[in-house]
Formats: sequence, C-alpha cells, structure tokens
Amino acid sequence: MIFDTHAHYTDEAFDEDRNELIQSLRDGRVGLVMNNSCDAASSEAALALSEKYPFIYAAVGWHPEGAEEFDEGCVEKLRRWAKHPKVRAIGEIGLDYYYETPERELQKRVFRRQLELAAELGLPVVVHDREAHEDCMEILRAFPEVRGEFHCYSGSAEMAKEILARGWYLGFTGVITFKNARKAIEVLEICPPERILIETDCPYLAPVPLRGKRNDSRNLIYVAERIAEIKGMSTQEVICLTTENGKRFFGIE
Ligand code: NI
Repeated sequence: MIFDTHAHYTDEAFDEDRNELIQSLRDGRVGLVMNNSCDAASSEAALALSEKYPFIYAAVGWHPEGAEEFDEGCVEKLRRWAKHPKVRAIGEIGLDYYYETPERELQKRVFRRQLELAAELGLPVVVHDREAHEDCMEILRAFPEVRGEFHCYSGSAEMAKEILARGWYLGFTGVITFKNARKAIEVLEICPPERILIETDCPYLAPVPLRGKRNDSRNLIYVAERIAEIKGMSTQEVICLTTENGKRFFGIE
C-alpha cells in the first residue's frame, strides 16, 4: 500500500474529475494520502475532503505564497482545525524566494508564527523551502521542540545531515526520476531508509515517464522504483517502508 504524503487534491486541476480520480486511487495501490494546504480556502477544502474519504488526511496552514492573507484570525482558525481528528500536521509552511513577493520579512514572520503554533499544538510541520535554505535552517534552529519534514527536499546533502540529526524526515517526489536529479540522489544516498517519505506534490511534478502531465498518487510507483534502485531494495520494500515512515511521522494507526 502506497502512502502519498503530500498531495493537493483540492487544486482546481482536479475540479473536473476529482471524485472519480480519488476513487480510482485505491486500485492503483494507494492506501493513504496526506492532503496539504496553502491558505484558508484550501485548508477548509482539505478538511472537507478528509471527511468524505477515510484514507485522506489533512495538513492545514499558510504556504509562503499565502502569507499576505495571514493574521491572528488565521491562528485561531488553525487552533480550531487542529482539533479535527483528520488533521495531522501544519503544512505546508516555509519560505519561497523564487519570486520577489511576498516580501521575505513577512514570509519569515508567518513561518515563525506557525512554528510557534505547531509547538503549542504538538503537531508536526511540513516545510516548503524553495531557494531559501539558509533562512529556513536559521528559523528552525530556534524551534528545537518542533518535529517535521522537508517536503520535496531540494537542499544539499550537508544540510540534509543537520535536518536528519534533528530527527526530521525528508520528502522525495518525481524530481528524483528526472535526468538532472543529481543533488536529490546524493541526498537519498545518505538518508536512512526510515526517514524517507514519498510524495507526489500533485498536480505538479509528475515523474518520468509522465513528466509534464497532471500528476496523481498512482504515479508514486515510479518514485518507489527509483528509490529501490538507489537504495538496493525491492520496490515493494520501498513502498512498505515509506508507508510505515509516513504513518509514524503523522501519527496514523
Ligand atoms: Ni505542495
């Protein structure tokens, strides 16, 4: 059974066939999905989806792109959502320096505030770090009590060592099947098997041979196959192991 630890099934890319697609995931050996959120609307939609499908769980929070919307009212919303039995993480949160906006100081403030809240609520965090490695690490060092994962990890092997030493997990996507994936593969090589999570980040990041198409959780088989090659394991072992890792990380029985 495959656990897709990072999906966005509330995205408009799934508006036309969301229910049929989600129902078909079970035939594609997908047994669990953690649906991540970016703002108030996607968090509320993620909750609704998790209520509809027993195998879908929710992470709620404000992505750096949603930072301008974030205020203390959002903190109250997060506290309320966190009481929901299907909410297992605050995510995705972090820093994104790929675009010029929102401005970096605002992104940092919103990231810190949600980390404080994760510590208060005892929930793990799902971190989005795009071209902001140094600042992400500096902020996280101030929250030693918070547990988490770097989703679609894109940093160096050196930085991965520090993250792993904190007891955190690393998420790997279809990117590891791309030709230019050298850095992610170096990281996989040093990552202990028990800290690997697999994820689609769908609708984005479809693995080879489906690169560029709309992604969904069934395609994680290609990611598992690639990890199996790199780690010298069978694909089935990778699927079982990463599902156990995801259940442990998110506290799912
Ligand atoms: Ni995402």
